[in-house]
Amino acid sequence: MRANELRQKFIDFFVAHEHTQISGASLIPENDPTVLFTTAGMHPLVPYILGQEHPGGNRLVNYQKCIRTGDIDVVGDPHHLTFFEMLGNWSLGDYFKREAIHYSYQFLVEVLKIDPNILSVTVFAGDDEVPRDEESATVWKSLGIPDERIYFLGRGDNWWGPAGETGPCGPDTEMFIDTGREACSPECRPGCSCGKYFEIWNDVFMGYQKMADGSYQEMARKCVDTGMGIERTIAILQGKQSVYETEVFTPLIEKITQLSSVVYGEDEESDTSIRIVADHLRTSVFILGDQHGVKPSNLGQGYILRRLIRRAVRHGRKLKIEGNFLSSLADIVIEMYSAAYPELKTNRDFIHSELSLEVDRFSTTLQKGEHEFEKMLPNLLKGKNRVINGRVAFKLYDTYGFPVELTEELAQEHGFSVDIEGFEAAFKKHQEASRGSGQQFKGGLADQSELTTALHTATHLLHQALRMVLGDHVEQKGSNITPERLRFDFTHPAPMTNEEIKEVEAIVNSVIERDLPVTTKTMLVEEAKEEGALAFFEGKYGEHVKVYSVGDFSKEVCGGPHVEHTGVMGHFSIKKEQSSSAGVRRVRAVLEK
Ligand code: ALA
Repeated sequence: MRANELRQKFIDFFVAHEHTQISGASLIPENDPTVLFTTAGMHPLVPYILGQEHPGGNRLVNYQKCIRTGDIDVVGDPHHLTFFEMLGNWSLGDYFKREAIHYSYQFLVEVLKIDPNILSVTVFAGDDEVPRDEESATVWKSLGIPDERIYFLGRGDNWWGPAGETGPCGPDTEMFIDTGREACSPECRPGCSCGKYFEIWNDVFMGYQKMADGSYQEMARKCVDTGMGIERTIAILQGKQSVYETEVFTPLIEKITQLSSVVYGEDEESDTSIRIVADHLRTSVFILGDQHGVKPSNLGQGYILRRLIRRAVRHGRKLKIEGNFLSSLADIVIEMYSAAYPELKTNRDFIHSELSLEVDRFSTTLQKGEHEFEKMLPNLLKGKNRVINGRVAFKLYDTYGFPVELTEELAQEHGFSVDIEGFEAAFKKHQEASRGSGQQFKGGLADQSELTTALHTATHLLHQALRMVLGDHVEQKGSNITPERLRFDFTHPAPMTNEEIKEVEAIVNSVIERDLPVTTKTMLVEEAKEEGALAFFEGKYGEHVKVYSVGDFSKEVCGGPHVEHTGVMGHFSIKKEQSSSAGVRRVRAVLEK
């Protein structure tokens, strides 16, 4: 079964069981500043899992683009990916363990035609805080899975979430396919990394909320969150050893081998480079082509994107591919995925121009880095041990975007080695420093605190006020909220004048003073558009969305939450107005008591 077919069969199955299909969200999480990318289908649904009403009802299904960067450095082996698609079904306080497991079993066995005799499952073994999940085990037994294929495991294996630093989480039951390979040891079991057991699906029973102080609170309303990775699942259904052998990668690999005239599957080192180019390019296309697409930069998502593109270029060069080869590969990804993700086609020009710019920039830094290295040589040669200091290697990496493998290669040519441990230590220190600065964002809307809620309502007022003062060309490009301030990006060609800033502040403050009620209504996407609601994130035709209105002042498609009336918000003040990128301005604002 191919990816496109699996995606459709999953949606059809759950729609037939009264689930509403909802659109997947952007890869850039809108209301959770604690993570860089959407990592799971449930991530954009956090407010609903925590109790808000979802306009689509309490049974949902979708496919979601996801990025997990934790394994970025091991990509290159036959199994790891930075981008993947997740299929998921949700119960928001509707069905729980029994039905969820029944649906999973039925889909695996009846739709995907997987032999139930090769299915193994794991369930939560329980600990001091949360009891052993006998209920799930009993359901699996009733479906015919024998005791010896039901494994009770601890938190490390059978607990999922939260997606960011706080939010919903709970014990899970995971489904594995026994590939028939020999067990690596008598202890080999599902979850073992030897490859005998292949994880295919995860049903999470969301019953707890992790709080900002690290404690867990039981949720009054229990939810189900499931996730099945498309790439992994088609690999197993197609009897392939690796996701890179499936149709979502073979056209890319074919093109790469054509450009480089190496053959895939003959040499481990070039295979690794081929997989890195394929994976990193695919992920970069999805980041650039996202509805909130970002550009390569030295910060946040842009930095990850930069690393991905540069690593892809570097490995392309290792394969002796010259020039801007990423563009022809990007087209393959855009074509392959446009039906499921139309935004890729919409943003095709942006994808191409940013890829070429970054490739050009990197080619320059490669040269500069090489030059810098040559300059350092005389000094290095004076030293007695022929080792390049880790901090120096890190400086080359950090300042010139010079990959440490390249430093190593150059060093070798001159009879040196690189202190990789020192490099890693410097790298780690840098990472901790950036993580530390990330922590100032703790909280955010995922916490639904009063402060972030009020700032969220303030972004709606600001959006409308900007349109009134500057014109209808103003469109939200992004927003980020912490308990301290809001940040709002929008399209506008020039810096705002002081008068314009004052006027916007005055409008927002007058709406706050009028103490307007904030109300919400569920309607179809097309009705919302007809009513003139601002739709920053547009859903599919025929899909239900929530529209928040602030009195007669603003109307916007949004997931909430918001204050009930504007009087509680405090005094609105713009602290900074600056450029964000070409044609996009950025405003920081606060609410003062
Ligand atoms: N959210 C769960 C996962 O990512 C389903 O595995």
